[in-house]
Amino acid sequence: MASAALADIRRAGLKAPTRVIFAVGGLAQAGALARELAGGRPALLLTCSALSAPTGPAARLRADLLRQGVPVELFAGLDHEPTVAAVDAAAARARAVRPGLIVSLGGGSVMDCAKAVAALAVNPGSAAEYLEGLGSRTTLAQPPRPHLAIPTTAGTGAEATRNAVIAAPDRGGKKSMRFDGLLPAAALLDPELPRSVPRAATAAGGLDTLTQLLEACLSRKRTPATSALAWRGLRLVHAALPVCCDRPQDLTARSAMLLASFLSGVCLANAGLGMAHGIAAALGALHDVPHGLACGLLLPATLRYNRAGCAPELAAALAAFLNRAAPRHPEATAAPADDAVIEAGLAAVEALQRRLGVPANLRHLKLDERALQRLATASMGNSMAANPVPMDPERTLAFLRTLA
Ligand SMILES: [Fe+2]
Repeated sequence: MASAALADIRRAGLKAPTRVIFAVGGLAQAGALARELAGGRPALLLTCSALSAPTGPAARLRADLLRQGVPVELFAGLDHEPTVAAVDAAAARARAVRPGLIVSLGGGSVMDCAKAVAALAVNPGSAAEYLEGLGSRTTLAQPPRPHLAIPTTAGTGAEATRNAVIAAPDRGGKKSMRFDGLLPAAALLDPELPRSVPRAATAAGGLDTLTQLLEACLSRKRTPATSALAWRGLRLVHAALPVCCDRPQDLTARSAMLLASFLSGVCLANAGLGMAHGIAAALGALHDVPHGLACGLLLPATLRYNRAGCAPELAAALAAFLNRAAPRHPEATAAPADDAVIEAGLAAVEALQRRLGVPANLRHLKLDERALQRLATASMGNSMAANPVPMDPERTLAFLRTLA
């Protein structure tokens, strides 16, 4: 499954890491891969405190690199979503170490921080100067250092994307550094690593993956190749996500979700997303709603909202999620048969949302009209621009009122 998906990515010429290792116990291959990528220079390993225990994965990874003759500088403590200050601190270390390779071990936050550090290691200035829509620098003068990304959670697919989400509290919330060069050179996917992720984080990450796969199928920037790849991921999620939550040690299910997460990253990097991600970004920035939870909360309602604008594509995507044959070619006109698939698929998404304990509306946030207006305005980012139904702040506000 993984090798067929990787072959599809190459054949279609999609942007994705050049090297991908997907193997149970694959962490043991990191040292040899790092030696190839580091070009005889040291590696800078970025990770979080939880993975830095003396017998934990960061220690094993470091020992493996040293065995392969790659000196390692460890930068741990990346325990929160990256801020400009945290990225700049890690970049300062990188400029001192002058690494040949950046290695990230962690979830989306660690990998995103590492993407920015790989760029700032060889480019001047603060991360703030490169933020999309805010910073004065719109290009990278030097190509970033190679980056080996090793995800320990299944969710964001950040190992396969070319943007780094960074919080700039004094500049209006979260923004992205977005450059083609930020795409990691290599991704190492070891399904043993996510087994220690707690249930709530597993559920939230899985719902992020599901939302990314479904939104990529509906995005205005979708292509036949990205949709076919997303269907591969969707076929995995329906069965595997509940198992990952209920039996965290199940390697078959963890493998399926780690692959689905990677594919969702490739899809979002090549096809964009939609309104669930547009609003989720604003909910995170303005109300601290965790990203995966926000996606899971918004997904059914946004799919219903978009239905009229993309019924054939929605039917095909939900057929894949239900592991049924696609009802029609997705570019064809909607037919009555598609409606039955859409209803069954939406019911399955809602059932998964309930089973994973995710609320179906925003009432718990007690948002008044003014807060809803602010939320609607803040939702108009990149993701919203790719939504199949064209959105503006007024339409978004009307949608949000139905959930508040
Ligand atoms: Fe996401």
